[in-house]
Amino acid sequence: MTDDMAASTGGAWTRRRFFEQLAAVGGVSLAMAGMDALGFGFASAHEGPPPLAGGAKQTKVLILGAGLAGLTSAYELRKAGYQVQILEARAFAGGRAQTARKGFEDTDLAGNHQVCDFDEGHYINIGPWRIPYHHQSTLHYVKEFGVPVELFNNDNDAAYVYFEKGKGPLAGKPVRKGHIAADARGYTAELMAKVASKGDLDAALSPADRETFIAYLVNEGRLDRKDLAYRGTDGRGYDILPGAGVDPGPGKESPPYPFADVLNSRAWYVLQSVAGWDQQRTMFEPIGGMDQIPKGFVKNLPPEIITYNALVERIQQTAKGVKVSYTDAAGKKAEAGADYLICTIPLSVLKNIPMDVSKPFLAAMSNVSYAPVNKIGLQMKTRFWEEKHWIYGGHIYNDIPGIGTISLPSTGWHSKKGVLLGYYAFGGEAAKISALPPAERAKFAVAQGQKIFPEYAENFETAFSKSWHLDPRNLGGWADWSDDGRKNAYPVLCEPDGRIYLAGEHLSYIGGWQAGAIESAWQQIGKLHARVQHA
Ligand code: ALA
Repeated sequence: MTDDMAASTGGAWTRRRFFEQLAAVGGVSLAMAGMDALGFGFASAHEGPPPLAGGAKQTKVLILGAGLAGLTSAYELRKAGYQVQILEARAFAGGRAQTARKGFEDTDLAGNHQVCDFDEGHYINIGPWRIPYHHQSTLHYVKEFGVPVELFNNDNDAAYVYFEKGKGPLAGKPVRKGHIAADARGYTAELMAKVASKGDLDAALSPADRETFIAYLVNEGRLDRKDLAYRGTDGRGYDILPGAGVDPGPGKESPPYPFADVLNSRAWYVLQSVAGWDQQRTMFEPIGGMDQIPKGFVKNLPPEIITYNALVERIQQTAKGVKVSYTDAAGKKAEAGADYLICTIPLSVLKNIPMDVSKPFLAAMSNVSYAPVNKIGLQMKTRFWEEKHWIYGGHIYNDIPGIGTISLPSTGWHSKKGVLLGYYAFGGEAAKISALPPAERAKFAVAQGQKIFPEYAENFETAFSKSWHLDPRNLGGWADWSDDGRKNAYPVLCEPDGRIYLAGEHLSYIGGWQAGAIESAWQQIGKLHARVQHA
């Protein structure tokens, strides 16, 4: 806040004093709420960045990391008049928002060096790959930078599920998700409808509710109204498709699997009444790769503000400012200074960098683990999943150790080739597979996929794999907070330590998503700005 503005309020009760009182009573967060009420502060928002009105008072902010949190901070602070500098350890911006396409290189901690050799125009998003429709913060920048997007198919009834650890004739067999959904829900509805119609649920339902409940079950399970039986449904699919004339004419619907087979297969594991909040059916992806979003930021920032290949070695602060020592691209020692620091380095990496912060802050940084996460892109010479199986995007859910999810591309429909996601796995199984050299990882992925698609191995051309826990800049896919960590460490790290503010997906409840990084940055720059206003 400028002195002018303070003076304009007149009298002793200036805005500055008002904020100071709020801050004294309830910390920076309460001061922010007050600023928000007066129209130049910031309230936690999902739909837009904080307004940051009132001027930057010639403040310089140093940002560590040009991932989504760092780029968001730089872009918004610059717009508000701050001097901004970013140090980025990699040779490019985007953090985890990386797209592997021809020529893209990666060297992991085990020394595995890969150069992507997908055909021109083909790629795999080895980091973030989908944007739920409600991640309005990510979509805010998609719109701001005019990044073209397409729909990402996050749920496909035609896709197979494959559960080899189940029992019975459906175990270890690819079956359509829609078949399992129709049968599991149909038979369940039949059982419930019959029980209800006998009056066995009358203790829980009034007579009128009982009739409505049965009507609901008939509708949900596609039951025969007359005898409440489930006998399959056209939505489940056909053995002979309907067509012209008398042959095939109406075709022949596929008969349901026996209920016991569905239950024993354990394929019902993929069914839930509604999709999880972060697994919505309607998602987006940038056309051409997720790195189009960081590229949008970079195009809208002066190139000189980002120093690439800058490896941070030490972070210092005094009452007056911050100083960061790093080695530059040539391996020379260098320093950067500023009034404030926004540090977006993942905690897994940051906890190993000497930093002037309080003991509780340091302890909090170690109170979180990072997830081992693997992905592999497999270039296939035909799109057999579309051509032969009529599966357009979506996921092949399975219980094969080390595979997690296989996913089919939601881009490049009907083109000749395609890159599918051959595994997307977390945790111990991911760690095991990542111990293999890249060629062996690909061999593993292809052999497992062959269990589901007979065309897999003969179509495989080339692979590119990523293990985020083996990336020295990340040491994990995302922060995995324990309940204890969330309660005791997380709140400590959400507040600044002196002049140092942390930001990133790890400081959000939208962990492992770009929206978490962006909204964390919005929150921290809002706090920083509030402080600058009443400094
Ligand atoms: N955000 C991660 C995903 O899309 C977890 O799978």
